[in-house]
Amino acid sequence: RDDRFSRLTPDHVAYFRDLLGDNGSALIDGVNGAADDDLAPFNSDWMRKYRGHCQLVLKPSTTEEFSKILRYCNEHMLAVVPQGGNTGLVGGSVPVFDEIVLSMSRMSRILDFDEVSGTLVAEAGVILEVADQFLASKGYIFPLDLGAKGSCQLGGNLATNAGGLRLLRYGSLHGTVLGIEAVLPDGTVVDDLSRLRKNNTGYDLKQLFIGAEGTLGVITKVSIQCPQRPAAQNVAFFGLESYEQCQKAFREAKGQLSEILSAFELMDEGSQALVHRVTGNKRPLESTYPFYCLIETSGSNVDHDSEKLQNFLESVMEQGVVADGTLAQDETQLRSLWSWREGITEALGHLGGVYKYDVSIPLPQMYQLVEDTRARVAEAGLLGDSESDPVRAVVGYGHMGDSNLHLNVATRAFDERVEKVLEPFVYEWIAERQGSISAEHGLGLAKKKFIGYSRSPIMVGLMKQIKGLYDPKGIMNPYKYI
Ligand code: FAD
Ligand code: MLT
Ligand code: ZN
Repeated sequence: RDDRFSRLTPDHVAYFRDLLGDNGSALIDGVNGAADDDLAPFNSDWMRKYRGHCQLVLKPSTTEEFSKILRYCNEHMLAVVPQGGNTGLVGGSVPVFDEIVLSMSRMSRILDFDEVSGTLVAEAGVILEVADQFLASKGYIFPLDLGAKGSCQLGGNLATNAGGLRLLRYGSLHGTVLGIEAVLPDGTVVDDLSRLRKNNTGYDLKQLFIGAEGTLGVITKVSIQCPQRPAAQNVAFFGLESYEQCQKAFREAKGQLSEILSAFELMDEGSQALVHRVTGNKRPLESTYPFYCLIETSGSNVDHDSEKLQNFLESVMEQGVVADGTLAQDETQLRSLWSWREGITEALGHLGGVYKYDVSIPLPQMYQLVEDTRARVAEAGLLGDSESDPVRAVVGYGHMGDSNLHLNVATRAFDERVEKVLEPFVYEWIAERQGSISAEHGLGLAKKKFIGYSRSPIMVGLMKQIKGLYDPKGIMNPYKYI
């Protein structure tokens, strides 16, 4: 614990209670007796890997309340952690020691939607799926989709610069976000809630908050450009004999499906066997294959798109690129095929502790990382089916269309022996190939020590200067990557 930070006193809590009102829904106060059970969900992350010891959760419902809280915390040297849906995968959303949790859950209003331009303005605590359902009722779609959509929030999505399943089609949040409102640690409200697509008046400061993981300020509102909801969506699921064939299939998909291609996802057999084991669901194909690809198309004409995808499937099967494949015939089948991809994260979580590596590597070498890691873990005698083997599986899956691989090492329980075999090995492997050690999840606490594998000392130095400018006292999400 950094001794520069004050410890919470009843006087501090009285100030917050006074500000937010004493109605029970606005704060959870462990200093004055709230049960640990009430605080526990805010102290523990989605993976149950990190556990903090916060005694106070504040749930402001207006920007003004955030501003007053942060100004007070800054003056009194109280450290804070912004927390959205708490689905982050790098330990960034939970306190490390006794930092106050600033929950965004009551900032959950949709503020405005322009049906002509597709611009949505919403508070940062709106749940992603809620925003998408609202947009569906207007004929639009949120330009980001991910497996945690039922819990994660727009502010958390921006703060992590989440990539997700359709980045290939709609691009990154750095392009789709038009504006933000944020509160700095000293209480200053940065009102950059622009609804303009073009705005070249000086530095584009909002970009700094996208991917800052709550280290510069709290994002309170978001304005984002949403595309028209596609009238037709189709999904195909393929089995392939090698990673080489997956690359060929991707190349063909880009060529043959071009403008309607909206997702190209990769899953290895290990990841699919796990989903099968956990859900018990019937697998999409009759046989098993070393690799699977899920392809989604989104377009405006059902017949045209189905025909294109059908032709594509026939062509890649004739060429021997794909060994077997199936097309979703209706919405239920479409969702079912997607569940084999989206369900991997949760299935892995059922096994015990998971070491997660979210990496970006040039496509030709991408899957080699999984094979090399599996071989290394096996050589160390750690991989196997018996109770005494700490590692149960080394699997790979991810957003192949974005050269983004998720290497996951599933263990019976988090184990230092395993960690030593994996780290820094994985990071060195990536750095040697000029890859990124965090493609979309961020650095948080989990990857904080390893930033140097993907960023030069000069760049880390510049990041520290920016941090110093926005948060000179360092109260915003301390102990994390910066
Ligand atoms: P939290 O977990 O609460 O917070 C994440 C970080 O953002 C923390 O550092 C926190 O301090 C900060 N933060 C949160 N809200 C704010 C705010 N309003 N202002 C400032 N800082 C804030 N990620 C991907 O990129 N692609 C995926 O496909 C993907 N799939 C996932 C699937 C599952 C099943 C799960 C559990 C996670 C997945 N993730 C994925 C991880 C991803 O980072 C999160 O799901 C999501 O973006 C985080 O949103 P959240 O609201 O839960 O944020
Ligand atoms: C995904 O693509 O499924 C997510 O990023 C979560 C994960 O890496 O497990
Ligand atoms: Zn992902």
